[in-house]
Amino acid sequence: MPGQRVFKVLRSSGWRLLLRPDVAYNWWLNRRELARKAVRVRSMPSKIEIEISNRCNLACLHCIRRRPDFHPRLGDMSCETFEAILRQFPRALTLTLTGFGEMLMHPQFLEIVATARRILPHANILGYTNGLLIGKRYSAEEIVRSGLGQIHFSLDAATPETYRKVRNSEEFDRLVGNIRDVLETRKRLGLRKPIVGVNFTIMNDNFQEAPEYVKLAVGLGVDYIARPALIMTAWGYHDGAARITRQELIDVLRETRRVAEELRAPMPLTDYMSDPDGFFADYYENRRDAYKHCIFLWNHVQIDPFGNLKLCCAHPAASIYSWGNLLETPFRELWNSEALQAARRAMREGRLPAAPCAQTCVEPDPILAD
Ligand SMILES: C[S@@+](CC[C@H](N)C(=O)[O-])C[C@H]1O[C@@H](n2cnc3c(N)ncnc32)[C@H](O)[C@@H]1O
Repeated sequence: MPGQRVFKVLRSSGWRLLLRPDVAYNWWLNRRELARKAVRVRSMPSKIEIEISNRCNLACLHCIRRRPDFHPRLGDMSCETFEAILRQFPRALTLTLTGFGEMLMHPQFLEIVATARRILPHANILGYTNGLLIGKRYSAEEIVRSGLGQIHFSLDAATPETYRKVRNSEEFDRLVGNIRDVLETRKRLGLRKPIVGVNFTIMNDNFQEAPEYVKLAVGLGVDYIARPALIMTAWGYHDGAARITRQELIDVLRETRRVAEELRAPMPLTDYMSDPDGFFADYYENRRDAYKHCIFLWNHVQIDPFGNLKLCCAHPAASIYSWGNLLETPFRELWNSEALQAARRAMREGRLPAAPCAQTCVEPDPILAD
C-alpha cells in the first residue's frame, strides 16, 4: 500500500520530513530506480548503515567473526570521519549505526548520535545492540536521551542456558534487566523514543525457544518483536549432525505464530510466518532466486569503520568486498562508478553482481537436515 508506506516513513522519520521535499523526492525517485533496476542512478540511497565500530564484547556462535577464515581490520570510526561520511548523505531517511560489531563499544557513542541528529534531523537513527554495555559504559538514561529513534536488542534466546550457548555470555538476566530499564526510563522521562524492539536469530541451538522469545518480549512490553530471523549464512548451523529438519522448522514457526496471535504480539506475521509450509515447500528454489530481490545496489549501502563501501553484510567475503573508499572518492562518484554500474547491469540481466553473492545468497541456507 503506497499510503501505508508513506505513513510508516513519516512515523519513523518524524513529521519534520514534510519540510524536506528534497528528501521525500529522493525517496520516491530511489524507489522508482530500484523498481526498474536502473543502471545509472540519479537518486541517493535512503537507507545507510555506518558501522561505527566493528569491535565487539561478545563472540556469538552465529557471528561472522567466529569464522576461522575471517580476519578483518577491527576498530572504531573517528567522530571526524563519521561526520565527513555522513555529510555525503544529506537525504538519507534511515541511518543504522551497526554492522557486525557492537555500537556501544564506541567510546564516543553519544557524540556520534548527536552528530547524526544534527546532520540528519529528519532521519530515523537506529542501532542493533547486544545491550550488555548499558549500565557499564552508558546509562539507560543516556541511551534514552541520546537522540536514537529506535533501538533493537538482540536476544537470540529466552533462557540463560541458551543465551550462554549461542551468545557465549552469562549475562542474559542483565540484558533482560537492561531492556526493562530502557523502557522504564523512557516512560519516566515522558518520551516516545527510542522505539524499542527485539530480535531472535534461529539456530540449531535455540530454535525451540522461539515461542518463548515472543512471550518474554510481550512480558517486557517492547514496541515491536522481529520475526524469528532465518540465519543468512551457514556458520550458525556448522554442527552439521544437528541441523534443523524442515518439519522442525515449520512446527516451531507455526507455534511461534500461534503464541504471537494469542498474545497479540507486535510482530509481523508475514512471509514464512504466515505460511511456513508453503515457504519451506519451495525453499531451495526461493532461496536460489533471492538475490534477484537484492536492494543493496540501489538503496541500502553499508560503510565500514574505515570508510569502505561494502557489498553487504551477509557473508565474510561480502563484508570485506569494497566498492571503494568514501574518504578517497566522494560517494556520488563511487555510486555511478563503472564497477557499480556493471553490477547493476548484471542484476538486471539476472546474473550475479559480484563473486561473493554466490556464497551469500545463492547457496541455500539453512541446509535442512532432510
Ligand atoms: C550482527 S549483530 C551485531 C550487532 C550487535 N552487536 C548485536 O548483538 O545486535 C546484529 C544482528 O544480526 C544477527 N546475526 C548475527 N549473525 C547472523 C547471521 N549469520 N545470520 C543472521 N543474523 C545474524 C544477530 O542475531 C543480531 O541480532
